[in-house]
Amino acid sequence: MALLDGHQATDIQQAAQWLAQGHLLGMPTETVYGLAANASDADAVAKVFSTKGRPSDHPLIVHVADAGDAERFATDIPSFARALMHAFWPGPLTLILPRKEGVASAAAGGHSSVGLRCPAHPVAHALLLTCRTLGVLGLAAPSANRFGRVSPTTAQHVCAEFPELSVLQGGPCAVGIESTIVDCTRGAPVILRPGMITREQIERTCAIPLHPQSSQPAPKASGTLEAHYAPRAKVRLMHAQQIEDALQVLLQTPGFEPRTLGVYARTQPRQASTQIHFMHMPADPTLAAAELFAKLREFDGLGVSLLWVEQPPSDLAWEGIADRLRRAQASA
Ligand code: TXA
Ligand code: MG
Repeated sequence: MALLDGHQATDIQQAAQWLAQGHLLGMPTETVYGLAANASDADAVAKVFSTKGRPSDHPLIVHVADAGDAERFATDIPSFARALMHAFWPGPLTLILPRKEGVASAAAGGHSSVGLRCPAHPVAHALLLTCRTLGVLGLAAPSANRFGRVSPTTAQHVCAEFPELSVLQGGPCAVGIESTIVDCTRGAPVILRPGMITREQIERTCAIPLHPQSSQPAPKASGTLEAHYAPRAKVRLMHAQQIEDALQVLLQTPGFEPRTLGVYARTQPRQASTQIHFMHMPADPTLAAAELFAKLREFDGLGVSLLWVEQPPSDLAWEGIADRLRRAQASA
């Protein structure tokens, strides 16, 4: 198996059969591509952990076709979690819920909770519906990148990372950063990982205040490790003026090779943009998120060793993007 076309029914069928037989598949979602396995097949799930190089106690998200299928994996779903499902599923939101005993234990990394998400990508949805006809009720899928690296937002990224893997193509991911994760097991919603569904939207929908710990991510979520989402280049977050000032100094430093420097900013530096690798970051957060990971990979492809990224605005719509960039910086 190699590349499958997510817009062909026969290819979706083939992909679902492949998963039902216990194999792994790269699958599109609206956030990032996932490395999928049948969530109820412990051997297949073990292959996800080993392929990704991820510690096996770091739980995986289980993807379901609809909120009804969530009941197969979770129990005691609080009413605020149901409100979130109703408002944001299908979509880029993962809910951590109490796990039904005896199901998806390997996927959940042995934890008593399970992370569930119903993706909005039409190819993911078609795949999940076809899987269901074959008795596969959920797909465990972390982002399809090696542990700690940048998540893939195109089928080509996945192929580059895992050349042996079969991948279902569904085009570039529209959202571009991973889902917002809300822990619903602590009485009040706790945001474990910010994403494009904002803190404000979560709070408004739940109609109860966020748990006070919402700013302190739980250590068990690997997407919340301080050093994560790392490109090869060393990332530094800077304000536009700092970039301007530092460029002035660096470009006059004897022996400095401008082509090793990347600048990814909403504000174009006044000088020297032809000598360095400059790329423009969109001023709109939705557009910025959609291209973020692809741009980090593009800078790596250009051989940049140092990447200066303009600090995103501090408003809530940018929180997920700012979070990923901060972690990319921490990895350097
Ligand atoms: O957008 C996304 O969420 C993508 C796409 C493929 O759906 N998936 C993704 O998966 O980002 P991954 O494995 O790279 O990140 C999932 C995060 C991890 O940080 C994991 O620890 C956390 O979800 N998680 C999953 N189940 C959990 C649980 N039961 N308790 C706490 N955290 C959990
Ligand atoms: Mg990941």
